[in-house]
Amino acid sequence: MRKAVIAGNWKMNKTPEEARQLVSDLKPLVKGASCEVVVCVPAVDIAAAREAAKGSNIHIGAQNVHFAKSGAYTGELSAEMLVKSGVEYVIIGHSERRQYFGETDATVNQRVKAAVEAGLKVILCVGEKKEEREASYTDALVEYQTLIALTGLENKQVEQIIIAYEPVWAIGTGLTATDEQANETIGVIRAALARKYGKNVAKKVRIQYGGSMKPSNVKGLMAQPEIDGGLIGGASLKAEDFSAIVNYDAE
Ligand code: 13P
Repeated sequence: MRKAVIAGNWKMNKTPEEARQLVSDLKPLVKGASCEVVVCVPAVDIAAAREAAKGSNIHIGAQNVHFAKSGAYTGELSAEMLVKSGVEYVIIGHSERRQYFGETDATVNQRVKAAVEAGLKVILCVGEKKEEREASYTDALVEYQTLIALTGLENKQVEQIIIAYEPVWAIGTGLTATDEQANETIGVIRAALARKYGKNVAKKVRIQYGGSMKPSNVKGLMAQPEIDGGLIGGASLKAEDFSAIVNYDAE
């Protein structure tokens, strides 16, 4: 059985003081959760979020990482810097990074390798745009994005990767993939992993759904057999909504 993992992606929201407040508010609300709980915060919020999360089941993640160990890369952060700051998880290849900051499948792969080597838990994002779905390219695209991002990893490392299937047309739009669409595409990703790394590896990899996930649709999505969690944007910014998602299986 794969343990579900629900992660908030705060994107470019929250000052350190607001981060401290949100994590403090979340603590009592998520403490009985059966899933792994992660908040991926802006770099400047890491210290405050970590401090506020002390003694709780809330894990801290970052939203990107550079692939070099150090050097002349103005504005970037290395995997070691994140680890030493108390970060455990890192989102890599988010569609907003690909779309607005020119990230490519090749640099996503380099980032994944650097993060894994440093001991970070990677949340690798893949997903198709609206026109790609309409042209029936979804399966081929997510398969390609996934396998190229994992190039060079050992089976043992692949098992530890968390993949977030985030259809770009569902991000921040209020549109959600149907439970069946999300399950089907996540199944395609798992089948690709099985072909490349074997069934035993594929069945261990946790694959989240992301894209307008919220308290009202989390139950249906999480009831799907292939879906192992969620990557939550907008609804992760409010303690009430995020905790309702995290507690999707509570009575
Ligand atoms: P929304 O939940 O706001 O659609 O964002 C999803 C997302 O991009 C998480 O990484």
